[in-house]
Amino acid sequence: MGFLSSAFGLSLFAALAAILIPWGNHFIKIGGPFLTPNPTVLAEGHGPIYIEDTVHCEDVHHYRPANLLFAACEDFKSTRFDWFPPLGHLTPRPEARGSIHVVDPKTMKSSRLEFENFEGPFVTHGIDVIEDPKQADAVYIFAVNHLPNPDHWLAEDADDIPKARSQIELFHHVLESKTVQHVRSIWHPLIKTPNDVYADSPNSVYITNDHFYREGHMRLIEDLWPSAKWTTIIHVQLTDLKAKDSAGLDASVAHSGLWNNNGLGHGRTEDEIVISSAMGGELYVSTRHPNNTISIKSTIPFDTVTDNPSFFADPYRTNADDASGYVVAGVTQGLYLPKTAKDPDATDPSQVWYARPKGDGWEKKLLFEDDGSRIRSASAAVLVPIEPEKGQKKAWLFVTGFLSEKMIAVKVGL
Ligand SMILES: *[C@@H]1O[C@H](CO)[C@@H](O)[C@H](O)[C@H]1NC(C)=O
Repeated sequence: MGFLSSAFGLSLFAALAAILIPWGNHFIKIGGPFLTPNPTVLAEGHGPIYIEDTVHCEDVHHYRPANLLFAACEDFKSTRFDWFPPLGHLTPRPEARGSIHVVDPKTMKSSRLEFENFEGPFVTHGIDVIEDPKQADAVYIFAVNHLPNPDHWLAEDADDIPKARSQIELFHHVLESKTVQHVRSIWHPLIKTPNDVYADSPNSVYITNDHFYREGHMRLIEDLWPSAKWTTIIHVQLTDLKAKDSAGLDASVAHSGLWNNNGLGHGRTEDEIVISSAMGGELYVSTRHPNNTISIKSTIPFDTVTDNPSFFADPYRTNADDASGYVVAGVTQGLYLPKTAKDPDATDPSQVWYARPKGDGWEKKLLFEDDGSRIRSASAAVLVPIEPEKGQKKAWLFVTGFLSEKMIAVKVGL
C-alpha cells in the first residue's frame, strides 16, 4: 500500500499541492527561469543614450521644479561585488565612496556633486529629493548609506553582531551649485536593512527595511516564501537637524506585514506613498496618515520583480487624455541573481513597466525590456516628458540599475 493511497495521504498531498502550485507559478513568473528576454527594438533617434559616469546608481529621481535628475551612485565598478549588504555581499571595502549625481535631461550629462563636509565611506542605495521649504532653489536629499559595523569587524567574537550598520544621510544642495552639504546622519535600531526612503519634509522620512534577516538560510527562506511577510517601514521624525546619528530623532514602525517591501515613491497627492514588494512583484498604492502610519489603498500586480516605483505626472493631461501613471523597473530573471550578483561581467535582464488607472483596475504597458546588454539589473526608472509629437505623447525614459555600468535614456510613446 502506497502512502498516497490512504485518505490522509491524499488530503496531505492536496494541501501541499494547494500551497506549492501557486508558489511554483509565482516563482516561474517572478523568478523567470524559463523567460527569454525580448529586448525592445528602438526606432531611429530613440536611443539608447548612455549617460557617462553613472556606475551602479540604484535609484534615480526626477526633481520636476528644476527638471533635473538625482541619483546616488557607487562610482567604482568593483567594490559593490564585495560589499553591498542588500545583496548579501559582506566583505567590507573601506574605500567604497560613492556620490550624489545630478543628470540634466536636456544635455544627458551627469555631474558629481562634491561633498563639502562629508568624509568616509558612502555605499549608496535608495534616495529621495524634496524641496527645501525655506529656500525654493535648494533641495534636501535623503540617502541610504550601507556602512560596515565597527562593532562586528573590530570584535573578537562577533558572530552575533551584524556586519552592516546601515544608516541614512541627509544632505542639502543649492540647485545649480556644484556641491552638497551634509546635514546629519540618521541611525536607529529599527533601521536594519534600509533600502529606500520617502521624505515628506526635511524632518520626516519613511524607510523600508527590505529583509528581516541580514544573511543565512533564513534570509533565503524569506526571499522564497510568500508568507514571510516580515518586513517593516520605519518612520523617523527628526527633532533636531543639528544632532548626530541616533540623537534628535524619534522612530516608529509605520507599516509592517509585507513580504520583502523594497522601493518607495511619491504618488498623485501629497499623502500618497507607493510601496513595492520586490519578490511579490506588486506595487501598493498607499496613504500616509498624520500619525505617521501607512495604509494600503490598492495593489498593482506585475509579472516581474518590482523595485523602485516613481510617478509620472503628465504635464499635457486633459480630462480626455491623461498619461499620468506609475513607473516601475525590475529584473526579470531574479532567480539567477544570487550567482550573477557576484560577477562584474554578468548581465541581468530587466523590464520597465508603466501602469495607469483604468476603470476599476490598471492598464499596464511594457515601456522597455532589455537582455542586460544595454542596461543591467534595472532598479529604477523615471519618465521625463517631452512635447507631444504629432499629437503622440512621448517621454524620455531614464533607467538605472544597481549593477549597471551606465544609466540609459530611451524615448518612449505613452
Ligand atoms: C493612524 O491614523 C489612521 C487614519 O486616521 C487610523 O486608521 C489608524 O488607526 C491610526 N493608527 C494609530 C496607531 O493611531
